[in-house]
Amino acid sequence: MAHLRRLFLTTELLERQNLGFWLARVGLVMTEFDSDQDRVTQLRDQIAAHNEAYHGRDEPTVPDAVYDRLLRELAEIEARHPDLVTPESPTQSVGSAPNEIFSPVEHKIPMMSLDNAMDMEELQSWYERALKGIHDADSCQFVCELKFDGLAVSIRYENGELVQAATRGNGRVGEDVTHNVLTIEDIPHQIKNAPEVLEVRGEVYLPISRFEALNEEQLAKGEPVFANPRNTAAGSLRQKDPTVTASRKLAFWSYQIGEVLGGPQMASSEETFELLQSLGLPVNPEVTEFSEFSDVQKFCEFWKSKRHEPDYEIDGVVVKLADLAQRETLGSTSRAPRWAIAFKFPPEEKITRLVNINVSIGRTGRATPFAVLEPVFVGGSTVGMATLHNEDQVATKDVRPGDMVVVRKAGDVIPEVVGPIVADRSVNSKPWAFPKVCPSCGLALERLEGDANTYCVNRSCPARVETGISHFASRNAMDIEGLGERTVRGLVAQGMADDVGDLFALTKPQLIELLVSDSSNETLVNNLMSAIDAARERPLANVLIGLGIEHLGPSAAELIARRFGNLDAIAEAETGDIEAIDGIGPVIAQSVTDFFADDHNKSVVEKFRLYGVRLDITDGEADVPQLLVGRSIVVTGSLDGWFLSRDEAKRSIIARGGKSPGSVSKSTYALVVGNDAGQSKMDRASELGIPIVGEKELRHLLEKGQLP
Ligand code: IVH
Repeated sequence: MAHLRRLFLTTELLERQNLGFWLARVGLVMTEFDSDQDRVTQLRDQIAAHNEAYHGRDEPTVPDAVYDRLLRELAEIEARHPDLVTPESPTQSVGSAPNEIFSPVEHKIPMMSLDNAMDMEELQSWYERALKGIHDADSCQFVCELKFDGLAVSIRYENGELVQAATRGNGRVGEDVTHNVLTIEDIPHQIKNAPEVLEVRGEVYLPISRFEALNEEQLAKGEPVFANPRNTAAGSLRQKDPTVTASRKLAFWSYQIGEVLGGPQMASSEETFELLQSLGLPVNPEVTEFSEFSDVQKFCEFWKSKRHEPDYEIDGVVVKLADLAQRETLGSTSRAPRWAIAFKFPPEEKITRLVNINVSIGRTGRATPFAVLEPVFVGGSTVGMATLHNEDQVATKDVRPGDMVVVRKAGDVIPEVVGPIVADRSVNSKPWAFPKVCPSCGLALERLEGDANTYCVNRSCPARVETGISHFASRNAMDIEGLGERTVRGLVAQGMADDVGDLFALTKPQLIELLVSDSSNETLVNNLMSAIDAARERPLANVLIGLGIEHLGPSAAELIARRFGNLDAIAEAETGDIEAIDGIGPVIAQSVTDFFADDHNKSVVEKFRLYGVRLDITDGEADVPQLLVGRSIVVTGSLDGWFLSRDEAKRSIIARGGKSPGSVSKSTYALVVGNDAGQSKMDRASELGIPIVGEKELRHLLEKGQLP
């Protein structure tokens, strides 16, 4: 069954590294993946917008047949590239945004995270710290548990009846998934002799054998396969329809008790597990207690070497103090208990063949080498490509096409080529040489002295133009729906667009020629024409973002747009005037003036003017009440499914006169946390007593200028 788990995740990972656009036009494999990734993103955006209109506002924007076609296309691409499947994909959970399906559940006792020990030394220091913090260190017992790679849930029983189940969410507030948890066979609906209230915590997971069987079923049905057991478990638990969750056959390990009312007072981990077991909750058979720390270390080493033995994925060992009174003494930080530590298994390394080294060209012309690998399953996904960053990196590692190489990946981390296995190298192999010419336009590549990067300096290079247009059309910039990678490539190849300015001169006959093979399909063209039309009215900050000025992010774009009010004023501004804006540094300011000093860029702006793109801020935008002046609001985590994305949230704060820096300090007014938010920011906020808030409070802040 191994082939089912053979995925091609790297495009997504590279995307996260902000390298997504450079992947275009670089050999068959890359081209195909990149366009699919882009198309998937675009389809998901479109489907989400239609869902919002249909479920959220009860105003469908497209006929059902169109909606179905989008969904089918997405499912087809996902079937070809399982790596592109995410739990949030509409193919995994059809319907409105998840936060509309699942109501929030506040955890009375926060669901904490765990601190990690990345090696034995770190585990040893945790042990020494822990011993210092307790009085009766001699009698210290440890309980070792496997660290299951699933999702933490909290299950609440009242008078023996399962009444509520919730995900961990951000630790304070999770999602109500009661109906779905009720379908998990391992979890009893009723428990006998139970206390009045008992909150059981543990991990929902998908057994590996079940994951593989599921994918076989998916293949047989011609439906997309799932990426990995963890994502599948997460997606399955967040289904709108519990019968779908039931069909996935999730499982559960209990490992902790949260709130208890009217129940026995437990003194140790052993008693806790005994209680859980007696109530019929599944307890993992590998849980073991030790009194000698050297035995704890042996247990960790043992499972490190046997990590693939169980029928469920594990990514470490959790070591906890066994005595609950000692736990109490040690207490917790805002994020994690001091009485427990997760010994994480080291990043997995695998050996595979490096098939080739290709170079991709990004929007700025930067030429980035990357390894094309024989796909290898490592660290939870299959890796088929890995960035090699720049010429010097390739030289330092001395990796060559044909080499067997070590590939490493830890959890979510970007895959990396560690180095070649020199002993296996053929005698004829030669060091790889950076290409002299651009793989896209064929003109000479340039590397300036003192710069690690190599560039294609041809402004008309098709790869550069394409990535520039794709960026311009992306959601956070001009948001031109329907302008997918394939269309962009066609536009450039046919000479219909030499730069982003030309998009606004496209005519219907041109688009028909490009897009319509079957004359009944003019809707596509009409939709694209309207999307381009709508983009003429985007706010000035979006135009600035779309232009792709180096170093200029959404927050800075918003500040500059508000300060100058129109594009001409920005183009004419001196570096000093831009730098004078609070929140804009010299690098951004210089980059903006350099950009507008360039003749080619000037001509793009001229095209905008000529073709009716609005280049100023409207009264409506300018008149946004300045409710947040003097307030600094940090936004962290993913706001997927919220009313605003993170970038939009930051821009909305700035538009109201507030600030939205990247880190928490004494002067922060509030920390807005989305899903999977960075713990360090939450820790800092708690230390400084700064309110940590969610979506509801963000809405209130934007409307009223202060926290509720
Ligand atoms: S104890 C406050 N035990 O790891 C204690 N967690 O990195 C936190 N996890 O959110 C939970 N196996 O999802 C505990 N045996 C185990 C675990 C475990 C997996 C997960 C859990 C938690 C995350 C923290």
